[in-house]
Amino acid sequence: MIDLLSLHKQFILTHVKEGDICADFTMGNGYDTEFLARTVGMSGKVYAFDIQPAAVESTKRRLAEVGCPENYTLICDSHHNAAKYIDCKIKGGMFNLGWLPGGDKSITTMRETTMPAIETAISLLDSDGVLTVAVYPGHPEGDAEGKMIEEYLSGLSRFKLCVTKIKIVNSPTSPYFFLIETK
Ligand SMILES: C[S@@+](CC[C@H](N)C(=O)[O-])C[C@H]1O[C@@H](n2cnc3c(N)ncnc32)[C@H](O)[C@@H]1O
Repeated sequence: MIDLLSLHKQFILTHVKEGDICADFTMGNGYDTEFLARTVGMSGKVYAFDIQPAAVESTKRRLAEVGCPENYTLICDSHHNAAKYIDCKIKGGMFNLGWLPGGDKSITTMRETTMPAIETAISLLDSDGVLTVAVYPGHPEGDAEGKMIEEYLSGLSRFKLCVTKIKIVNSPTSPYFFLIETK
């Protein structure tokens, strides 16, 4: 069976190489930050964002424990402010929406900041770049978030971007993801 959340990493790997600059827009416990940091190596750079100090601390501790290359900057701020910290184009970015695994479920990504964050991420994306957005429709805000993102992405020019939705059609509440690729 396909593990959708592993699959989105395969798409990242088709665009992102050693030396590239990337962003993890929802740091959480830092698993995606680690994946990006190892992919770009010491000649690359990863910016990671989370609004929760607990997530930043958890990531900081874990990345040190697993010997991750020290090529990352962990930022305790909302992802919709990403352009304040990133002053160059990025080759790849990951959004893994929802709440911090093992943390406070009342603190989840919300449409009003997720939408401007995705717009900002697209504006930062280099040519031949990629963004993945994992959505969790099993809770009301996640479901609403996914619908709003899809409506927005559906209206973007196909001459600039290719947007794909990857979803298990016979399991409506399972996570799915959007893949946004620049030409
Ligand atoms: C599903 S978790 C991410 C998992 C993470 N990518 C990993 O590898 O462990 C979602 C995270 O998004 C964070 N988040 C919620 N709102 C945010 C915002 N406005 N900006 C940045 N992060 C946010 C939550 O605090 C939570 O840690």
